[in-house]
Amino acid sequence: SAERPAFAVRDLSLAEWGRKEIRLAEQEMPGLMALRAEHAGKFPLKGAKIMGSLHMTVQTAVLIETLVALGADVRWVSCNIFSTQDHAAAAVAVGPTGTVEKPNGTPVFAWKGETLEEYWWCTEQALMWSDGTGPNLLLDDGGDATLLVHKGTEYELSGEIPGFDSDNEPEEWGVILDLLRAEQAKNPGRWTKVLAGIRGVSEETTTGVHRLYEMERAGTLAFPAINVNDAVTKSKFDNLYGCRHSVVDGLNRATDVMLAGKIVVVLGYGDVGKGCAQALKGQGARVVITEIDPICALQAALEGYQVTTLEDIVDQADIFVSATGNKNVITVEHMSRMKDKAIVSNIGHFDNEIDMAGLKKVEGMKRINIKPQYDEFVLPNGRSILILAEGRLMNLGCATGHPSFVMSASFSNQVLAQLELHANAEQYEKKVYTLPKHLDEKVARLHLEKLGVKLTVLSADQASYIGVPLEGPYKASHYKY
Ligand code: NAI
Repeated sequence: SAERPAFAVRDLSLAEWGRKEIRLAEQEMPGLMALRAEHAGKFPLKGAKIMGSLHMTVQTAVLIETLVALGADVRWVSCNIFSTQDHAAAAVAVGPTGTVEKPNGTPVFAWKGETLEEYWWCTEQALMWSDGTGPNLLLDDGGDATLLVHKGTEYELSGEIPGFDSDNEPEEWGVILDLLRAEQAKNPGRWTKVLAGIRGVSEETTTGVHRLYEMERAGTLAFPAINVNDAVTKSKFDNLYGCRHSVVDGLNRATDVMLAGKIVVVLGYGDVGKGCAQALKGQGARVVITEIDPICALQAALEGYQVTTLEDIVDQADIFVSATGNKNVITVEHMSRMKDKAIVSNIGHFDNEIDMAGLKKVEGMKRINIKPQYDEFVLPNGRSILILAEGRLMNLGCATGHPSFVMSASFSNQVLAQLELHANAEQYEKKVYTLPKHLDEKVARLHLEKLGVKLTVLSADQASYIGVPLEGPYKASHYKY
């Protein structure tokens, strides 16, 4: 029916193009392909009903089809309104053996440029199978699927959303509340049932993991969670080298402005900030860092960056990239002090790093759309600022996100997490766990051959001298890399 379609994508005729790019991406994703080969014919995810909420890109298509190859029954949405690649979504819906006329792929609900209403509609659709049941596993990026099933249940129990903060993103909360009200009328008690059926979640990103630890501390987490982000082969690769690749891509595809010589402020010098700063420095930009953490500030200084406060540099810089995972890092007050035509962007998970809600409310402010995901905001002071992807993560909103190779490492961790939860979820408490180090080393190992890396083999004598097993793990858990 129109209300519950089998899938929802922009244009199925893009599937052939999507399939070609998926085929090429598979060559660049050795970790995922090795996991397919390792489990071929064994279907270890048989019985798993996985709902995924993660940027619907070409790379994610390879993840989805890996989960399916391992026997899982999968439904998917994007975790951001701008990050879907419509050809990838079409190819996944059509499937490797289907046709545009007879699609038989994975139900995906995602297109580039969703409204907030459409975004939460998609999430709700993917959480209900055609027989009316929900998933038994979640694969989340940023925690929106986890949030909806928890908030939905709380709403059914109390008639409200506890912790509802109307000052913080009121628009989005309003949309969620409307969805829950409508659902309660049609399908009372649905979320309580869905929540009870979920055995666990694996979470992709820093911000989503942050939400999970908060829920663990508050005692509200309803199932065990695997923190994929803090696998070394995830955050020290995807967040760092992935953003090193895609931050410049986002700036170039949106603005095409010359980066060399410009003053670029990178806010936050964590894994994402480090990757961004290095890439921008490589372009010849004069990179300035802001930090709240003395360790990261000192790291930035010793890499040769100027480290100062935003207040100190805001009226001199040409480009801003926020990478903090924090909120209101760039305020309306900051934006009003910026140079004319300053470029303002965010690469962190949520758009609230920049006070977009506040900016849109400024009296007398004029918005000129330059092209999709690129806007000029003319401030009452006569100057204008250029905003990428309405403040949403610019590398996925304005470009195509990280390249396949680094996503193979991230997604191999996701597959290992799903395998572990499917096999053993009941052995875990309702807490947040990381994958054991030997699996981290396995993921890295799966990516060496493609690059022609020759690994030195430890002798038994050397192994006992440094106190590690011959077959690894080679580092103690407190090692920082
Ligand atoms: P992180 O925790 O390693 O780094 C964030 C840094 O920002 C920290 O060093 C923190 O001290 C600093 N910070 C916090 N508040 C600040 C403030 N007010 N001013 C200046 N610095 C501040 O986190 P990570 O892994 O670098 O992730 C950052 C964000 O990027 C998260 O939201 C994460 O989910 C997201 N992310 C986005 C990706 C993308 O492709 N766009 C990829 C990976 C992560």
